[in-house]
Amino acid sequence: MPSKTESGRILSGMRPTGRLHLGHYHGVLKNWTALQEQSECFFFVADWHALTTHYEEPGVMGANVWEMLVDWLAAGVDPDKATLFIQSRIPQHAELHLLLSMVTPLGWLMRVPSFKDQQQKLNDRDLATYGFLGYPLLQSADILMYRATGVPVGEDQVPHVELTREIARRFNHIFGRDGAFEEKALEALAKLGKKSAKQFVSLRRQWLQEGVSLAREQALQVLEGSGNIGPQDRERLVGYLDGGGREILPEPEALLTPAAKMPGLDGQKMSKSYNNTIQMRDEPERVKTRLMTMPTDPARQRRHDPGDPDKCPVWDLHRIYTDEARRLELASGCRSAGIGCVDCKKPLLEAILKEQSVLRDRARPFEQNPKQVREIIESGCERARDVAQETIHEVRTVVGTLY
Ligand code: TRP
Ligand code: SF4
Repeated sequence: MPSKTESGRILSGMRPTGRLHLGHYHGVLKNWTALQEQSECFFFVADWHALTTHYEEPGVMGANVWEMLVDWLAAGVDPDKATLFIQSRIPQHAELHLLLSMVTPLGWLMRVPSFKDQQQKLNDRDLATYGFLGYPLLQSADILMYRATGVPVGEDQVPHVELTREIARRFNHIFGRDGAFEEKALEALAKLGKKSAKQFVSLRRQWLQEGVSLAREQALQVLEGSGNIGPQDRERLVGYLDGGGREILPEPEALLTPAAKMPGLDGQKMSKSYNNTIQMRDEPERVKTRLMTMPTDPARQRRHDPGDPDKCPVWDLHRIYTDEARRLELASGCRSAGIGCVDCKKPLLEAILKEQSVLRDRARPFEQNPKQVREIIESGCERARDVAQETIHEVRTVVGTLY
C-alpha cells in the first residue's frame, strides 16, 4: 500500500454556512472521509471566502463556524487522520494572495464564470468589490499554500482550480527561472532555424502568459516538424515551453466529486436558499412530518392511481438510501398502485432516521463539550501553519522580499 504522502496531498475548504444538510453529507463529507483514509488531507473553514459575499453580516460567522465543524466531525471527518483548520487563523493565506495578485492579469479574474453569475444571482448585495473579484485568487492561495495535488470540489468550482493551475504556471515561469537551463534552451532554440524559433517563442508566450492551450499544441507541432534537433534538445524545449526552471508551486488537479442527486423536500435541489433541506442533525419529528408531506408523482392523486417513480422526487431519495432489490419491489408497487405513497415513504424515513442517529451520536460529545472542538482546531491550525510558513518562506525568497 502506498504511504499517505506518496498518494499526494488533498486540500478542500467549505464556507461556514452553519448547520449542514444531507446534501452536504452525501455530496461532500462522505467523500472527505474516504479520502482521509488514503491521503494526507487538509480541510478548512473558508471564513474569509464567506466575507467576500456576506461582509454585511459579520455577526453570524462565529456560530456558523463551530456548528459546521461539529457536522464535519459528526460525518466522521477524523482529526487524527486529517488536519482541520480555519483560514483566517493562518494569515499566511493573505500574504500569498497578495503576492500572487502581483502577477495575476485582471482579465483572468474577470472571465471566471462565478464572477458574473454570482453578481447576477445575489443581486440584493453589492458585489462590485475588489474582494469579490479576487476571491478565486484567494482560493488559489489556499490551494498552492499546501502544495495540494488534489482538490475535491463540485462542478461549479472546477474553473477555480483551473485558474489555480494557470497562476502556478505563471508564477513558476516568472520566479522559478534557472539561468543555466534557460541558456541551454536558447541554444536548442537556435537550432530550429529563425522562422520556427520565432513561431515557437510567440506560441510559448501565449501559452505561459495567457494560458492558451491550443498554443501549446501548436508549439509542440513546430518541434515535431523540425528535423534539425535531437531528442535531448527536444526534451529541453518541451520543458522550456512549459515554463522551464523550477517548480515552486505545483499545479493541482481538480477531483470532481460526482454529484449525488440529492433532492430537497420540494423536489428541487436540496439547498438552504430553497428552504427545503433535511439537516444532518435534524429532529426526528421534523424529518417525519416534512418527509410525509413531501410531494410525489403528481399523477398519483388518489391511492389507486398508478404512478411513475421516475417522475417522483421521493424516488431520488430511494436511489441514495435503498438497495436495488427493495427498489425494484417498490417501483413495481408504485406502477401497479399496489402500494400507496405512505408505504413507499416509510422505509425511506427509517433509513434516514437510522443514518441521522449515527450522526447525532457522533456529534453529541462535541455538543456537550465545545472546548474539545476548539482544541481540535488549535492543533490543526498549528500543523497547517507549519506547512504554510515553509511555503511562504520559499515564496518570499523567490519574489525577493526576504532580506
Ligand atoms: N470557494 C469554495 C466554495 O465556495 C470554498 C473554498 C475556498 C475552497 N478555498 C478553497 C474549496 C480551496 C477548495 C479548495 O465552495
Ligand atoms: Fe413516489 Fe413512491 Fe409514491 Fe411512487 S409510490 S409516487 S415512487 S412516493
